[in-house]
Amino acid sequence: MNHPPALLRSLAEKVGTPFWLYDARVIRQRIADIQFLTDTEGVQARFAMKACPATKVLKEMKAANIWIDAVSGNEVLRALRAGHPTGHQPPVICLTCDVFRDNALPVVLENGILPNIGSPGQIADLKKAGYSGPISVRVNPGFGHGHVNACDTGGPSSKHGIWLEDLFATKEMADKAGLEITMLHAHIGSGPQFQELHDNLTRLAAEFVTLLEKFTKVNTISLGGGIPHNYRDHGAQVPIEPLHELFASCHQRLVSKARRDLRLEIEPGRYYVAPGCTLVTRVTDVKQTRSNEKGSGATFAMVDAGFVDLVRPAMYGSYHAIDIVGKDDEDPNVPREPIVVAGPLCESGDIFTRDDRELLAPRLLPRPAAGDLLTLRDAGAYGYAMSSNYNSIGRAPQLWLEDDGSVEIISRRENIDDLLKAETSERLA
Ligand code: LLP
Repeated sequence: MNHPPALLRSLAEKVGTPFWLYDARVIRQRIADIQFLTDTEGVQARFAMKACPATKVLKEMKAANIWIDAVSGNEVLRALRAGHPTGHQPPVICLTCDVFRDNALPVVLENGILPNIGSPGQIADLKKAGYSGPISVRVNPGFGHGHVNACDTGGPSSKHGIWLEDLFATKEMADKAGLEITMLHAHIGSGPQFQELHDNLTRLAAEFVTLLEKFTKVNTISLGGGIPHNYRDHGAQVPIEPLHELFASCHQRLVSKARRDLRLEIEPGRYYVAPGCTLVTRVTDVKQTRSNEKGSGATFAMVDAGFVDLVRPAMYGSYHAIDIVGKDDEDPNVPREPIVVAGPLCESGDIFTRDDRELLAPRLLPRPAAGDLLTLRDAGAYGYAMSSNYNSIGRAPQLWLEDDGSVEIISRRENIDDLLKAETSERLA
């Protein structure tokens, strides 16, 4: 949604640019959308916290009884510090990973976290670490969908999960290690279309029905995340009713075949938070290149945010709506021209207006002027979460807009001390 220009300008005065502005109302609306379908069907939702691990967001999830899907030891620790409980009964925090890195195993053991393994060798890792609790197994069912190949998490080219035909061997390994498989899980990707989600989940539910006969201790099936957000058209979001029907039919199908108590889980990330945050940046200059034998010239709006902040356009060619604050882009009388929006990094690929084929895919925008604010919308999922310190740039501050209009700063701009704090000169050998 568009925030009032006066609000954005006054916040920019206070914290500088760029900054991230979360909108509690929008995130709570998305939470309510999912709550509606989980309440009626008894489906348990988790938040795939990799999409946005801010403590403030994790607390919203806790307040709504949304459990956590974490992917690293530190994500588990973040969730615990935000107030999510430890333990297997029920397994509120689940750690989904194909590799136990850093503190992942100790964190699982110390806090009674349910490990959701995606590689058979992890059974030996768990055993060696002294783990003896329940485990979940992530399945690669052989099909999936994604907005780009890198986000398709099912099929022969995906590194995620254990191939369907190898599951029984994995079960034998678990039996031998004395580890009980209580959950079967699959996340088949983050595609843009509801119909793909529908077809994939329906197929997935059918696979799980068959597996339930052999996996007699399984009491939970997780269908993963992947509820799409429409970045291009806010009026055309996933319709809630078909979404509701989809999960209801998966649930009924699984529960009726299981002939035992079975919990169905889903774990959206993007859907909860994508529209709930805007990246606000400042135009620093507008300049041209001219056409020559190498190609056509372009108009560049230089801004102070780059792919260190929001990497999705540079990494996947993802679309984020762009507005020049105060220059009403819905007004057909405002003249527009093709503009390339480019950031401050020492890389030609530091461009927000590109698509998967083209480095430059200029957007039709009202001509900005130096000093104007520019917003990149729908930046709440995989936005700040994927930001980096490349070029030694500190992460931009995150601000939280409450229902009542008050604004809180939830993480400050990183400074040089933050960037240097892990550097050391201890002698090792
Ligand atoms: N569960 C698992 C095991 C996952 O790997 C993911 C996402 C999700 C749930 C949540 O998927 P969602 O509902 O957010 O689509 N960085 C990419 C997305 C990578 C998704 C990775 N896994 C992007 O910016 O689009």
